[in-house]
Amino acid sequence: MSEQTNLGGTFTLPNTSITMKRIGYGAMQLAGPNVWGAPRDVDAAVAVLREAISLGINHIDTSDFYGPHITNQIIRQALYPYPKDLVIVTKVGARRPEDGSWVLAMSRQDLTEAIHDNLRNLGLDTIDVVNLRLMGDGHGPSEGSLVEPLTTLAELKKQGLIRHLGLSNVTPTQLAEAQTITQIVCVQNQYNVAHQEDDAFIDDLAQQSIAYVPFFPLGGFTPLQSSVLESVAKSLDATPMQVALAWLLQRSPNILLIPGTSSVEHLRQNVKAAVLQLEQQTVADLNAIAAKPLADRFS
Ligand SMILES: NC(=O)c1ccc[n+]([C@@H]2O[C@H](COP(=O)([O-])OP(=O)(O)OC[C@H]3O[C@@H](n4cnc5c(N)ncnc54)[C@H](OP(=O)(O)O)[C@@H]3O)[C@@H](O)[C@H]2O)c1
Repeated sequence: MSEQTNLGGTFTLPNTSITMKRIGYGAMQLAGPNVWGAPRDVDAAVAVLREAISLGINHIDTSDFYGPHITNQIIRQALYPYPKDLVIVTKVGARRPEDGSWVLAMSRQDLTEAIHDNLRNLGLDTIDVVNLRLMGDGHGPSEGSLVEPLTTLAELKKQGLIRHLGLSNVTPTQLAEAQTITQIVCVQNQYNVAHQEDDAFIDDLAQQSIAYVPFFPLGGFTPLQSSVLESVAKSLDATPMQVALAWLLQRSPNILLIPGTSSVEHLRQNVKAAVLQLEQQTVADLNAIAAKPLADRFS
């Protein structure tokens, strides 16, 4: 594989034989607007997924509540039979009623149905990794016990429907509680140059060899904007998005990226973030973005 597609090296999930390239792909952008319904162009969505594989990506993040069902069905259409080393990570804990909203779905029945929906729509007998996604405050976590839903997922794991479990939108206290029930291999929380609240958590997870997978690495529904990002990008002949991804790769070796895009061109740009080297001072400047009030991020 060329240097351009080294994808940031690899990371092996703790006590598993699952090794992932550090740049993966997040499939949420493949559904229709507001993550609802079909995309305008299904062939374009299929092309993005196939390009991801041809670039060497072996980690796809998804959920059956994207669409709902549709994103997983497109993944199956594009990639089945799946490459041997492909790791599909999904998440459960919400459902989408007809009005397109996101509703908590944590009962034993909800979670069991969600696992079977994922298996059916992806065409799998067992799912590599399932994240229990807590509702929290939306895109940030809030304290509260996860014993009941995680116990259900641990039982489904014992039945062989799930290989490994992770958590999403959680606090360190919730991780500790989860670890009394089952092994946790990854945590998926919001983190990017503008949201660095999880700094201490990332270091703790790195100590435990647990993967940290930032969602909204490029700002999600509110794309990252900052004059620092722009000037660094200009000086490196790169794009601000590539700089944002390179900063994450350099932040900690347990960080795995899942930038989302519906565009082959953006996907190709994103994987090139792996070759950007950020100097110490540049990293310090980027670290400082989150501390600035929103209005000052352009000054
Ligand atoms: N656990 C959770 O609660 C949770 C929540 C949200 C997301 N996720 C996961 O995290 C993944 C990433 O999050 P995300 O997709 O919401 O947000 P993101 O990766 O931060 O950003 C995606 C946005 O950036 C744009 N973009 C991507 N590459 C670009 C580039 N090179 N240049 C310019 N614009 C670019 C995309 O538009 P284009 O389509 O036009 O490229 C899209 O609007 C999702 O796909 C999903 O798998 C998890």
